[in-house]
Amino acid sequence: MDSFDYRNGTLYCEDVRVRDIAAEVGTPAYIYSRATVEHHYRRIEEAFNAGAPLICYSVKANGNLAILRLMKEMGSGFDVVSGGELFRTLKVGGDPRKTVFAGVGKTDHDIRYALEAGVLAFNVESLAELENIERIAADMGRKAPVVIRVNPDVDPKTHTHITTGKAENKFGVDMRVTEEMIARIAGMTHVKLLGFHCHIGSQITDIEPYGFAIRKMTALFQNCRRSYPLEYLNIGGGFGIYYRGDEARPVKEFAEQIMPFVKTSRCKLLLEPGRFIVGNAGILVTRVQYVKISGARRFLICDAGMNDLMRPALYNAFHRIWPVEGNGGPDTAAENLSPADVVGPICESADYFARERPLPPVKRGDLLTVFSAGAYGFSMSSNYNSHPRPPEVLVEGDSWRTIRARETYQDLIRGEEAED
Ligand code: LLP
Repeated sequence: MDSFDYRNGTLYCEDVRVRDIAAEVGTPAYIYSRATVEHHYRRIEEAFNAGAPLICYSVKANGNLAILRLMKEMGSGFDVVSGGELFRTLKVGGDPRKTVFAGVGKTDHDIRYALEAGVLAFNVESLAELENIERIAADMGRKAPVVIRVNPDVDPKTHTHITTGKAENKFGVDMRVTEEMIARIAGMTHVKLLGFHCHIGSQITDIEPYGFAIRKMTALFQNCRRSYPLEYLNIGGGFGIYYRGDEARPVKEFAEQIMPFVKTSRCKLLLEPGRFIVGNAGILVTRVQYVKISGARRFLICDAGMNDLMRPALYNAFHRIWPVEGNGGPDTAAENLSPADVVGPICESADYFARERPLPPVKRGDLLTVFSAGAYGFSMSSNYNSHPRPPEVLVEGDSWRTIRARETYQDLIRGEEAED
């Protein structure tokens, strides 16, 4: 489900015409639907209801303060991977006791900041990191709560760049190191083991790998509970969304696979969903600057580029793209479609959103929508080629507001020498 639909040939986000927002804030622009964010959060809550999970929204997917505030209001905690992300959650009054701090490369500064804030747990990813946390916690006279991030060596059958739970990935520790870490913690005075964590990958549309991972994780949890007062099993995020059509699986199917194990091991369940909550809740709207015919190719050169939405360039990711207006939406008759390359203004051949995509006739000045851009869209954007980053807009019913202003040229040079 999402709240983007065509009515009388023009695209709406909830009850607002996308073209009206574009007319006011300009293009490119990210537009998010509050109802869609809420809908997806509630689906997770419902699906895992029997386990009374702590949902820690993964800030990396979309860290805009308005989105974080919305998550907090719905009762969510947070999964952060940097001091910067923690700072964002604290800014909206996020509860550190519902916040987990993850990431393979936590700096001393990150660890101190998170200990001062009082986070629920560090997801620890190596022996060296564990020792560093013990050292810093001792120095601060604190006891650091940790969960060990286990790499269960499961193939989530997703894109290689977003696979995290296989032995060759840099994330987590294998079972042998897990045991070593548990033994080491027994001799530590400033670290407390609360449980285990795993995250096997992202954009997972296959239920089975979760089954394998959860089986391994609950076995480990039950084994260790004999010697430690363990509480938490954090199974990460990764629930896939639809980019093309109907590839996403209802989250309750994942829950059906996971919950029986959670029930028998009587652990507190933690989840770190990101994409599932915000992915289909956002679009990127861009204006066609030029139509260029080059040999057999039709290039639609847009004002948004890989700097605004990196996923196609980085992962060859597919995003649906349709004109905002003119009956040119997904219901366009096949005989009116012809292939087009949708590209940006950046000086890189990788700067494209789609190649040979069947699209209706499009002319200079038309608006295009890149769908399913709410997760890892703005959060991965950059100023490459010195393009100011686009604004972000949040729609609620028939009203909307800018939740991040378009950057200015002055923003581009902030902090640089000879700024004035
Ligand atoms: N927990 C951990 C430990 C993670 O590494 C991630 C994502 C999540 C939770 C949230 O995963 P989600 O529910 O959003 O799938 N930039 C890539 C995705 C990278 C995901 C990184 N980790 C993309 O655009 O597809």
